[in-house]
Amino acid sequence: MQKVLVVYGTRPEAIKMAPVVSELQRSTVVEPVVAVTGQHRAMLDQVNSLFGIEPRHDLDILTQRQRLEDITSRALDGVSQVIAAEKPAAVLVQGDTTTCFAAALAAFYGRVPLVHLEAGLRTGDPSNPFPEEINRRLTSHLASLHLAPTPTSCANLVAEGIARESIVITGNTVIDALHQVISQDLPPTDDNLARVLGASQPLVLVTAHRRESWGEPMANSARAIATLAARFPHLTFLLPAHLNPAVREILLPPLIGLRNVVITEPLCYSDFARAMDRSLVVLTDSGGVQEEAPSLGKPVIVMRETTERPEAVAAGTVELVGTDEHRIVRAVSRLLTDHDAYDEMARAVNPYGDGRAAARSVVAIESFLGTGSGPEEFVPASVAHTV
Ligand code: UD1
Ligand code: UDP
Repeated sequence: MQKVLVVYGTRPEAIKMAPVVSELQRSTVVEPVVAVTGQHRAMLDQVNSLFGIEPRHDLDILTQRQRLEDITSRALDGVSQVIAAEKPAAVLVQGDTTTCFAAALAAFYGRVPLVHLEAGLRTGDPSNPFPEEINRRLTSHLASLHLAPTPTSCANLVAEGIARESIVITGNTVIDALHQVISQDLPPTDDNLARVLGASQPLVLVTAHRRESWGEPMANSARAIATLAARFPHLTFLLPAHLNPAVREILLPPLIGLRNVVITEPLCYSDFARAMDRSLVVLTDSGGVQEEAPSLGKPVIVMRETTERPEAVAAGTVELVGTDEHRIVRAVSRLLTDHDAYDEMARAVNPYGDGRAAARSVVAIESFLGTGSGPEEFVPASVAHTV
């Protein structure tokens, strides 16, 4: 069996890697060796425990208020040592975090071929999102096999001079993970969530964490949420707060103590999926949530200036509003008061995957390492059904 060293470090990478790890475990030609950097801790461990993954290596690099330089240097050094010890046939990284980029660089320095899952997402703006746009561009130029989630991400790679033969369109594994947890229908584990779900008030689900929004943009978002909570007292605004203290100290002060704003710790993935499924509207700056909520037929208002996920915007279920306070209030208010506008956006679309992305990814990796001829590529259906 050839070893594939699977490296990840944060919550979204863990969620998107989990289906691939379990598919690699079923392979008869390759075996996964999981190494986590621990760029996240509690938020990473939550996911590994839900999916039953026990990493063989844990670099445990997290420090409070860590700098990009800390993450990069500690992950580069740690992953290089794991590569030297395990001698894998390939290294697999996911997405655009600093763990992803540092592990990609470690693979390059160790002369081990790199496979990049969720390759080819681009905004075209080096500062948005920061530092992810540059992390993913650099990773693309270190990788030998590019697992692009959609035809658009494949085209982005080709436009940068990456050979089409080295790209496989797989769909996004987040949809596999989402299908898995929704079908398990696990009871809520968070007490606040259980209470909110037990009450009859409709939900607006809110998340925010992006580094480029720290400061005034995120403060604007917080004020917008407070205004919306006052304007719609019959709704509950559910905010699972990211653990980053830099985010909490900007986002939470205007919201703490408001009667219909419920702030929780980060929800485990099954709880969060349930919360999305029960929400009327999702207000977020998250990448993964922009992919998941449309497949559940939930309108998404994105508090960012740009997105690398244009497919759901084109399908009409995601609206990009930026971080202007009044624009956020206007966009959410419109959805909550105009039934036609709501129905127009509340359509389940699946431009990001069909739940078989992990299987395609593993067939592509096996073929890359010399066995088999590669998978049939993912072709998105336009609109799955209308709610
Ligand atoms: C990171 C990724 C971002 C991704 C996000 C997902 C980088 C540079 N950023 O951003 O691309 O969208 O994860 O959430 O790779 N913390 C904890 N415990 C945890 C997690 C975080 O205490 O389990 C706190 C620590 O104080 C840490 C801080 O949050 O220093 C920031 O974590 P970090 O991974 O640097 O940045 P994120 O904003 O989480
Ligand atoms: N998520 C979760 N619990 C939460 C908030 C989010 O499990 O309390 C999941 C969400 O469903 C998505 C992923 O975490 O799959 C997104 O993580 P995040 O927004 O931190 O990162 P991004 O996707 O923006 O990189």
